Amino acid sequence: MADLDQGRVKAWLREEDPAALERLWAEADAVRRARVGDEVHLRGLIEASSFCVRACHYCGLRAPARGLDRYRMTGEEILDAAREAHRLGYGSVVIQAGEDPGLDRALIAEAVRAIKADTPLAVTLSLGERSDGDLAAWRAAGADRYLLRFETGDPELYHLIHPDLPGRPSDRLAQLRRMRDMGYEIGTGVMVGIPGQTWDILAADLLRFREFDMDMLGIGPFLPSPRTPMGGPDAPSYLALRDQVPNDELTTLKAVALTRRLCPEANIPGTTALATLDRAQGRELALRRGANVLMPNVTPVGYRVRYEIYPGKACVGETAAACQGCLETRLRALGRQIGRGPGGRLRTECKD
Ligand code: 5AD
Ligand code: FES
Repeated sequence: MADLDQGRVKAWLREEDPAALERLWAEADAVRRARVGDEVHLRGLIEASSFCVRACHYCGLRAPARGLDRYRMTGEEILDAAREAHRLGYGSVVIQAGEDPGLDRALIAEAVRAIKADTPLAVTLSLGERSDGDLAAWRAAGADRYLLRFETGDPELYHLIHPDLPGRPSDRLAQLRRMRDMGYEIGTGVMVGIPGQTWDILAADLLRFREFDMDMLGIGPFLPSPRTPMGGPDAPSYLALRDQVPNDELTTLKAVALTRRLCPEANIPGTTALATLDRAQGRELALRRGANVLMPNVTPVGYRVRYEIYPGKACVGETAAACQGCLETRLRALGRQIGRGPGGRLRTECKD
């Protein structure tokens, strides 16, 4: 949308007038309906490994976190979870994990090949920062999409919260560009209210979504994990800012609605983090204010409780089949249908 610049996005993020917000919600919902329709695409989320070599300051799976019972699924288990997603009628799966070299090139390539041979599912990977060799091999094996949230494009905040590995500086935006060149559909996103995030930083990041013409955009509230510098005993002094964005539901929904206006064709999920903050209606509100995707968990329940990015994650105890029934009822109540097929990025003739 031509009218949305840094100043306007920032003003919308800070808007508190209920009548003005009603206009934002209505506009986001109208753009969603016109550009991606009423179908809600379901992606089966497979949390394939809780091992991670990185130390991101917000993430409960970070390498230094103690007291976690870490696990890594086998290729066969990943295939089984994908089959379950297909049985439940989902059009795609997302294989997500910490940055785990134990999920090596061959294991993932084999799993992708097997899923593609066995099902019509689109396959999305979300395995962190990986080498171009890995990414190219997985694309060749049939992977369609890759999710990697850049969290913030502000260089100072980015480097503060994403410590480099020796010899491997972290640069997610660069990886996103390379993956696009490899032919992946690419997705990214940010957390809302991460310590150190100012209104200016968040507004600039939403505008970056449009600049990079991202295909998928995940936006959820930051939820403090006690195993991290941002949620542990020293958290209150982590970064004290006057201009700090709050990690609340309303601000997250404003970010979702603005993202739909900035990127009318993108696939935007109602995130689990938002459902965790508001179990009763977090996902529904997102779907009514710009979102068009849900990512029900199909990880075996025994592993799911061990994938603790943040505490109290929604639906952790539900089986995939139970989530399926629950979501169907909720979507029907919203007057929306479950999307059929892989649900890739649509490209409509109308260009902004
Ligand atoms: N709160 C909310 N979301 C988080 N993520 C990681 N840690 C947290 C947290 N504490 C998000 C990141 C990551 C995605 C898989 O989960 O944005 O990219
Ligand atoms: Fe695991 Fe950042 S801590 S990817």
